[in-house]
Amino acid sequence: MAKRFGVIGCGYVGSAVALHLRSQGVELTGTTTGPARLVELCDLVDHPRILRCGDPSADFSVLDDLDGLLIAMAPTTASYEEDQYRAVYGDAVHALVNALRERPRARPLHVSYLSSAGIYGDQSGAITTELSPPDLSNTTNALLVEAEHAVLGLNTPLIQTCVLRLGGIYGPGKDISSYIRRAAGQQVAKNGNHINAWVHLDDIVRGVEFALQRRLQGIYNLVDDLQLSRRELSNALCDDEGLPPVIWDNHDRPGARVFNARVSNARLRQMGFSLTTRSMLDPVPAC
Ligand SMILES: NC(=O)c1ccc[n+]([C@@H]2O[C@H](COP(=O)([O-])OP(=O)(O)OC[C@H]3O[C@@H](n4cnc5c(N)ncnc54)[C@H](OP(=O)(O)O)[C@@H]3O)[C@@H](O)[C@H]2O)c1
Repeated sequence: MAKRFGVIGCGYVGSAVALHLRSQGVELTGTTTGPARLVELCDLVDHPRILRCGDPSADFSVLDDLDGLLIAMAPTTASYEEDQYRAVYGDAVHALVNALRERPRARPLHVSYLSSAGIYGDQSGAITTELSPPDLSNTTNALLVEAEHAVLGLNTPLIQTCVLRLGGIYGPGKDISSYIRRAAGQQVAKNGNHINAWVHLDDIVRGVEFALQRRLQGIYNLVDDLQLSRRELSNALCDDEGLPPVIWDNHDRPGARVFNARVSNARLRQMGFSLTTRSMLDPVPAC
């Protein structure tokens, strides 16, 4: 296990990973992009730092003494804005990769990079593995895949890198089941026939720890076992509470980013990883 671990982007996922690894006795460095969340980070990590990758003045000395790293950056704007995506998955990731390549001290390092299973895009609902080609017809997917390639390109005998492609995240503060039930009886402008992928926050934390311990390299889907269409999922959630169904479209809206794939987690399971939450339909385990 790493002795000194860094989290670039202590947001929803990064904070949970930092908290867990610190509880295991790992010395934690964690970053945020500005002063606003620095005090919060003081409770979370041993070395809170401000770092905005992509800024010309960014100080990458935070990377110098680490032996494990999680890259968990995401645009923090509420709505999708292409410029923000490009700033993070283009400029910021590439700046960080360059800084990692130029670290002054040559120490062994394991890097986990969080990407999205959404890059598979439209697979017509087919079983989709890490060998399935991403759907590059969408510009966001193409950007995310380019960022993955940049990180994987760091691989040397000293730096081992892996990409974890996450499903949509649910967990504390992100109660997707409740969001869906709240739409019961209402029209939602998304294709109900499409199959999405999901994963619980706790399993992401465990997945990052697993990747670090096993020094995983390459690409792994980190998704739960649920492979239902939006309509099947919402029907299951609404029926359960006697609610009317959500009314989904039966077609794609023009320009919509399509995600329709049965994303397989078999590769990670074959490595020995097991989920604690198989799907959001599972009963919540008692504390
Ligand atoms: N949310 C999902 O359902 C989902 C699904 C699939 C994949 N993912 C992936 O999972 C990862 C983590 O997601 P999340 O939900 O934890 O994101 P989040 O809560 O929005 O946190 C993003 C973090 O990135 C930091 N950040 C933004 N721009 C940065 C930059 N230029 N340089 C350095 N740090 C920067 C933010 O800084 P501040 O602390 O200053 O805000 C924040 O700490 C992302 O890569 C995302 O693409 C998420």
